Amino acid sequence: MADGPGMIAAVGDLGAWAELRNALVGRTSGRLTDIMGALGTLPKEDRRAAGQLANATKVAIEEQLETRRAELAGAARTVALDDPTMPARQSWRGSVHPVSLVIDEVCEIFRQLGFTIALGPEAESEWYNFLALNFPADHPAMELHDTLYLEFGGLLRTHTSPVQIRTLQQYPPPIRILAPGNVYRRDFFDATHSPMFAQVEGLAVDEGITFGDLKATLTHFAHRFYGASRRTRFRPSFFPFTEPSAEMDVEVDLGDGRGVRWIEIMGCGLVHPAVLESAGVDGEKYTGWAFGMGPARIAQSRYGIADCRLMFDSDVRFLGQFAR
Ligand code: DAH
Repeated sequence: MADGPGMIAAVGDLGAWAELRNALVGRTSGRLTDIMGALGTLPKEDRRAAGQLANATKVAIEEQLETRRAELAGAARTVALDDPTMPARQSWRGSVHPVSLVIDEVCEIFRQLGFTIALGPEAESEWYNFLALNFPADHPAMELHDTLYLEFGGLLRTHTSPVQIRTLQQYPPPIRILAPGNVYRRDFFDATHSPMFAQVEGLAVDEGITFGDLKATLTHFAHRFYGASRRTRFRPSFFPFTEPSAEMDVEVDLGDGRGVRWIEIMGCGLVHPAVLESAGVDGEKYTGWAFGMGPARIAQSRYGIADCRLMFDSDVRFLGQFAR
């Protein structure tokens, strides 16, 4: 190693820098360390001056070492930045959950038709969840829903339909609302079931509302949501809170190789007069229609998702595909 004042500046990389630092001020064998260790062998009257000189030299050397180290580290970073073959840094982009995408889009389509949003509690009473909706007490449908009961007679709502009652109690017709929210059922978690899932409820109540209004509005919705050329159909069904009741299907290709087929997208019907009456609305004067849909199911039909568990797993490889 060439001695001299330019020695530190001449070091070309961080490896050589570390070697030189060890050789000069290394804790066990550096040259300056050796000198300081030997101070005790000097005559007493020289020790103080020699010690001060050695200390000052050590401080100066360490300063120069640090300056050079910073230069070398900076240079290493510049080389890395200039290297066009370096892989690009991953950029993260958040995405909206497919269930939220569907809820937002459904709400927007109905908002343009004059509907507003109404919300209700997830912990409900048996009256709002069942009795006010014309479920007879002890009706098997109450078990069919496989309800999760709470202490003191409460329950976790099994559907968003109780928001119909709460809205009708609070506002006089004409009413047009959409009620998105989570509902709970005692189901196992499998490819087609989850104990918690979202629903969107729709309700329109006014004078002179007919089944024709229901069909026209929901067909308009399906054409906006799935495309104007999609075929739709209504099948007769049964719900305690609607009469007549129907199920709406839309013809879609799930992209699973099975081609185009009918998929059920919602239950609907004309609001049963008993429902209007239990909410204090005159069932002679007013009529209405309602629907209830499951956005997770709708997302499956929209994006061709075979297993609904994907919608609950929070796997970013799945969710990232919905980034816009
Ligand atoms: N509440 C029903 C369910 O959870 C869905 C439903 C059907 C809601 C028909 C409605 C309706 O408003 O008219 O299964």
